[in-house]
Order: sequence, then C-alpha cells, then structure tokens
Amino acid sequence: MKQILSLSIFLCLLAQSAFPQTSQPLSATNRKVKLEFSVDATGIPHYAVLFDGKAVVKSSRLGFKLNGGINLDSNFTIVNSTTKSVDETWKPVWGEVSEIRNQYNQLTVQLKQKSPNGLLLNTVFKVYEEGVGFRYEFPIQTNFQFFIVASEATEFNLAGDHTSFWIPGDFGSNEYLYTTSKLSEVNAWKFPIISGGTLQQNIPDQYAVQTPLMMKTSDGLYINIHEAALVNYPSMQLHVNRSSFQLSTNLVPDALGNKAYLRTPASTPWRTIIVSDKATELLASKMILNLNEPSVIKNTAWIKPMKYMGVWWEMQTGLSSWNYTDNIDQLSSSGAMIPNGRHGANTANVKRYIDFASANGIKGLLVEGWNKGWEEWTGAWKEENFDYVTPYPDFDVAAIAAYAKKKGVQMIMHNETGGSAVNYDRLLDTAFRFMNKFGYTSVKTGYVGNIMPKGEHHDGQWMINHYNRVAQKGAQYKVMIDMHEPVRPTGLSRTYPNFMASEAGRGNEWNAFSDGSPAEHETILPFTRLMGGPMDYTPGIFKLKNYAKGAPLRQMHTTLAKQLALYVTMYSPLQMAADLPENYAAHPDAFQFIKDVPVDWDDTKIIEAEPGDYISIARKEKGKANWFIGAITDEHSRISVIPLNFLPTGKKYLATIYADAVNADWKENPEAYIIRQFIVDNGSILNLNLASGGGAAVSLTTATAANLKSVKTYQ
Ligand code: NOJ
Ligand code: CA
Repeated sequence: MKQILSLSIFLCLLAQSAFPQTSQPLSATNRKVKLEFSVDATGIPHYAVLFDGKAVVKSSRLGFKLNGGINLDSNFTIVNSTTKSVDETWKPVWGEVSEIRNQYNQLTVQLKQKSPNGLLLNTVFKVYEEGVGFRYEFPIQTNFQFFIVASEATEFNLAGDHTSFWIPGDFGSNEYLYTTSKLSEVNAWKFPIISGGTLQQNIPDQYAVQTPLMMKTSDGLYINIHEAALVNYPSMQLHVNRSSFQLSTNLVPDALGNKAYLRTPASTPWRTIIVSDKATELLASKMILNLNEPSVIKNTAWIKPMKYMGVWWEMQTGLSSWNYTDNIDQLSSSGAMIPNGRHGANTANVKRYIDFASANGIKGLLVEGWNKGWEEWTGAWKEENFDYVTPYPDFDVAAIAAYAKKKGVQMIMHNETGGSAVNYDRLLDTAFRFMNKFGYTSVKTGYVGNIMPKGEHHDGQWMINHYNRVAQKGAQYKVMIDMHEPVRPTGLSRTYPNFMASEAGRGNEWNAFSDGSPAEHETILPFTRLMGGPMDYTPGIFKLKNYAKGAPLRQMHTTLAKQLALYVTMYSPLQMAADLPENYAAHPDAFQFIKDVPVDWDDTKIIEAEPGDYISIARKEKGKANWFIGAITDEHSRISVIPLNFLPTGKKYLATIYADAVNADWKENPEAYIIRQFIVDNGSILNLNLASGGGAAVSLTTATAANLKSVKTYQ
C-alpha cells in the first residue's frame, strides 16, 4: 500500500514563516506539519514547527555548550543542506500493530562555525505526518574528538499557556502522580502526595518537568514532547519558563556535574514533537518507534510476549516478606539464618502459584525475594548487596525449575539491584548464565534506591548505558527484559525486541503501599509514560478493598471491570495478572477475560481518548480474528460509545461484555460487575456504562452456530 506522496521539501518562498527575520528559512513539510530552520545574523541556529499553519513551536534555539568554554550554539553558517523522502514499512517482533509505516521527509543541515575553530555540527529533521523528530550529529573532524557536553541549548518555545500533564524533573524517579495545570502554574516542588510509600526526591530545578510532556492548547491541539533512541546520552528534562512558555533542555548530570561524554562521530537522541488535533491520533503515533534503529537481534523466534503471575502482590501488601530472616546478625546454634516464617518465595508457595498459572494458561511466573540479600538490600549504600545466584534455604531453585517445566510455566527471574548497578554490572554474565542454567527466559530487574556508582542518577548517561548493556546481555543470553525504576522508555524495543517492558512510572503497586493513585491516573499514562514504550503496570487486582496488611481502610480507586479494561488500554507485551490466586479463584467468570486477552496484536484502533478523562481502545489479536476492547474513565461515570465498524463486513461475532454493574462505583461498590453476551457485527454500536472510576472490557470472537441460536443480538 505504498502511497505516492509529492515530495514536499523545498526552499520556502511563499508560505508564512515562524521566523521574524527576512532571510528565507529552509523547510520540510508532511501534510499539516511543517518544519522550518534558519541561522540568524549572529549565527544562532533556530527551528520552528507549525501544524496547519499554526505555530506549535515558535522559533527556538539549537546547539550546545561544551566543557572548556566551547560554545557550540552560535557563530554558525550553513555549509550545505540536503533532503530526502522515505516511505517504508516494517514489522515489529511484537506490538500494537503488526506493520508500521515509516514515512517522513528529511532535512539535514550541515553547520560550520566561523573561525577560529571551524567546528562542524549537523542538525537532522525528520518530518512525519504527526510531528517532527530532530537530532544533532557531531561529524568526524580534525582537532575535535573527545568532548563533554556541559549543556544542550535546545528550546521548545510554545505558543501559549497550554494545559499540561506533568511530573517533576526528578533525576531518579518517574513514580509520581501527574499534575494537570497550565504551564504558568508548573511547580516541580509542589505535586500531589498521597500518604504512604516513599520517593527518593531529587528535584534541583523547581520548574523542571519530565518528558513525555503532554499538553493541550486552548484551541484543541494536542502536543507531546519527548525523545527517541536514548543511547549514550543523559535523559532530557524540560525547564519551564512560566511567563514566556519557553521550555529549555535540562540534561540529567553525572556525579561530577557533567552531562555527556562523547567522541566524534556521535549523535544525540531524537527530540520529538508529536502534534495532532485529535488525541486519538497522538496515541496511535508510531513516530518514536520509527526514529529508533531496526532490530539488532537477527533471530527473534525466542522472544515471546506473555502474561505472567507473581509471588509479588503478597509482599507488596505486607502478607509475606521478601527477606528470609528479620535479623541477619542472629544465627542459630548451627550457624544458619533464623527464618521469620513469613518468607513468600518458599518452594511450597511457589508451587502453589505454578499450579494456578498452569491450570489457567498463564505462561509466566515471577518470584521475588528468592535470593539472599533482601535483609540489607537498599538504603545503606551497600554495594555488594546481592550475588544473583544464591537462593534462600527454603527456595529450591532446581526443584522449582523442574516443576515449572513439567507444568508448562516459564519462570521469570528477579534481579533487584537496590540501586547498585555497579555490582549488577560486574555480575551480569554470572546472573544470565544462572538464568540459562535453570531455564528462566525473562528477567525483571529493579533499581530501587540511590545509584551506585555513588553520585550517579537513574537518568544520567552512565545508567542509560547500563540499561542498554542489560538489554544487550539479555539478547546475548536469549533472555527477555522487564526493568523497574529505569529511565522512561524511548522506543528502544525496536532495536532490542527482547527489551519487552519497563515500569518507569507510577504503577499499580502504589495502591498496595500508599493510599493509591486517583481514578484519572490510567487515563493520563498512555499520553505520557507509555508514549515511549510499554509499561509493566501490573493490572488485574480483583480484591479492591482491605487487601493490605495493617491498613484495613486501604482501597483502589478503580472498579474490577476497569482492572480488566487496563489489559487493553495499557499496552505491554508482558502483562501481569497481579492479584493473588485466591482472589482470582473468587471471580472465575471475570478472570476469564484475563485468561483470554492476548498480549500481541495485529491492529489497534484508538476509538476515543482525552488525557485525564477517558480512553477506549479496540485491538485485534495477532494472527486471529478475535478483537478485544478496553474502555476506562476517571472519577466521572460515562457512557462509552463504541462503533464496531472495525469488524469485517458480514461476519457475526460473539461479544462478551465485562462491565460495571449499574450500582458499581470505585468507592462504595468496586467489585460489582456484570457479564453479558450478545451477537454483534460491524454495524453494531456498543454503549458501555462506565461507573465512577470504572471501565469495561469486551472480547469479540467469531460466533459459532450454537451462539447464533442461543444468544441475543445486541440492540
Ligand atoms: C519496586 C518494584 O517496582 C516492585 O515491583 C518490586 O517488587 C520491588 N521494587 C522490589 O524489587
Ligand atoms: Ca517501582
């Protein structure tokens, strides 16, 4: 379906320009999106982005300051500029769609500084139908090899005081609730705190926010700023000027205060500006994936999306412990650790989960707290906290591996580093060899706490390289990766398809150990955190009140039906069924949806979406005719209207609708749901009743002759 597009890159002569000066800017366009580039009289490079003739990013500076007093942000002339158009289609190993079109018009501008240095810098712009990605390249050149970035000058001068959905510019955590405010009201030191849980706060700039930054203009444009292909460079945060609405780049520093250590030839990540007048199109964008390099893994047959359970929620809710003993200094007369009697990762308990997962067709099982070290795992600057190969005495790794294999369940390794990435780095091969030996095909890593090497940050260049090294090691040992507490994703799963998911945001787990996330949280995440890649959000909690030990009043701000809908609205190729087996056993009819819902898709239709309010998505199962729908709302009840026009014509489907009961409500009656079945076709329009904090999930399977006889048609 290759479309012929007129090559629309040209020296702009007629159209209006975002630049005040008279010199003609270079430009590139793609339908409604236009990019302009110019160098002003003092040699400062600028760019601007327009959508349908409206300024999205007004004339904004580009460039760098380097250590040693080198200003790479002015005094430039344009040496050359080239254009090209690309229109190709590629197939992701897994994803929301089975084919991705990568169609853009590119403008590359080669800049050279006037004397004395004559340094070279290229800016490369890729203009997509839904936005612009650009990056810097530092070409090979004489007398300029190794250099240190002191700051990046990239600005995003916005055209107004947009409504924005932001979390503070913390160097080490993304696990915040979102604030919705005008840009003029951004205050990174003031954010919603819900009691319980802890955050290591490190927010030096009072006006810095993280990306993806989601915004909505007063005239209905949706703008998202993020980055793609974060490799060998620190994460970008944005400093907000609250009166001019200028965003400027804050790079997360290293322990010495430097930003990035580079050697020519080098390039930065892509800065991304996605823009649309439809929120649904923004969610459907594949621009960030497209800006990443193709897979470096040749044989990807071993990479398989899956659902998994975990010996996990019981620790999160305080019912059992990660640690084996409560006093590491006290040993028995024979010199053994004294068990606390609450250790979750014991062989019998693990087998119980294996049995349940196996009986219900859930492929994976995560077990946390299986290895020695949890007594002093974080908070003490203990560098050698785990060795990744020594199980606690009550965890029989070989017997469990054999049992899981017999039962057709894949064990998921857990490697929590407690922030000691330096220790994990040293032991990576040891850890992955251990996984290979015992048949673990995936690993969940974790980085809770202060980073060691001391002084490094989760989002600085050293850690960025560490995360990428772990993904590469995983590829070498054929192990799939799920990271908790890493930097937020930037589409690198295209390059490393074994890098399945990460947390890098405030997951469902916060409902276990704090007073929880508000009902709107899951309607914001797809517009922010998930723009860069899948989130291991860990949905599927069925017991929604009084689940946490010692906190009888604790409850989730969601209904049970909404927990089901999250399997569709919160995309991940690794999707947890996070609750305890007994809580699923209490609702086998609702659990059926979790059993049925796939984790890999041929197609995705974003049906309706508004950040902070609601999202409804339909997806087609990979390689099958089945469709699944998830619809969620915030604290406001609503009717979600879903035309089934995506179904093939003339085919009858059996729709199983898992909806909030009429009297359901997240606060008073969260577990009230109703399951109904109807015959539908592509002319049907579903009206789904979503309670306050509620949702609905629908499976659509080919109707059998028996269905057609016994099931009513949807009216
Ligand atoms: C934080 C992770 O997000 C959570 O899933 C995990 O259980 C704990 N760290 C312990 O590793
Ligand atoms: Ca976490």
